[in-house]
Amino acid sequence: MANLIDGKRISQEIKEELKTRVEQLKAQGINGCLAVIQVGADPASSVYVRNKKRACAYIGIESRSYELAEETTEEELLSLIGKLNADPDVNGILVQLPVPAQINESKIIRAISPAKDVDGFHPQNVGALVSGLPGYVSCTPAGVIQLLKRSGISIEGKHCVVAGRSNIVGKPMSLLMLRENATVTIAHSKTKCLREVCRQADILIVAVGKPKMFDASYIKEGAVVIDVGIHRDAENNLCGDVDFDSVLTQVEAITPVPGGVGPMTIAMLMNNCVEALTR
Ligand code: GUN
Repeated sequence: MANLIDGKRISQEIKEELKTRVEQLKAQGINGCLAVIQVGADPASSVYVRNKKRACAYIGIESRSYELAEETTEEELLSLIGKLNADPDVNGILVQLPVPAQINESKIIRAISPAKDVDGFHPQNVGALVSGLPGYVSCTPAGVIQLLKRSGISIEGKHCVVAGRSNIVGKPMSLLMLRENATVTIAHSKTKCLREVCRQADILIVAVGKPKMFDASYIKEGAVVIDVGIHRDAENNLCGDVDFDSVLTQVEAITPVPGGVGPMTIAMLMNNCVEALTR
């Protein structure tokens, strides 16, 4: 029977640890503040932003909201980021993505001071990850590492296939697994014989953005499967990139959707915010 990797429980455990750490820092007179910027009112983004602010309140750090109009110009957003970079009371800055088309996302990411980049998206933080230097790590992949470690799943020497190569998940995920001494293969939409490649994985991490694409034929008996996708299926139920019901009998352990990787992203964002307090 497959073990379910409980992201809800593990994320709660991490938030409790962070709450204690924040109390200790407060006793030393160190207070945190995360600036959260949202441009426009995309409903999904609004839900994420609300949950991030809620998590800040839960662990005991302040959050400041900047809700900007859809028509906000790149210059206006850059000017706000400049002010927040210079504000000593603000430790972390987060611009919820995606931003509207008139704003260059890459330019925005590069404008945030690397020292306040709690998303870990700035090229300096990405470069630090590549070079094995300290820096902020992208929250979702960092959360996957915590899921594996806190579930007692060993990584060293295992063959890990990461399906997906986005800047936010696939690429940093591969580097983190490499840092944990896995043998890493990055697969993507142009990979030949994708099914066969995935079937070689001891640990398969899927972040391709295609509902239920990975059925039993992609998975080796006894593999650990981490599903980063989140979608609504035809019946309006949440589902991942993995066809959960089809693979359940052959996996050793798997993350459910919802309640797997999802809750970990915010827990690791909070971890980065707490790290920002002691830099
Ligand atoms: N949009 C989707 N995921 C993320 C994330 O992790 N951080 C930010 N800033 N925007 C996102």
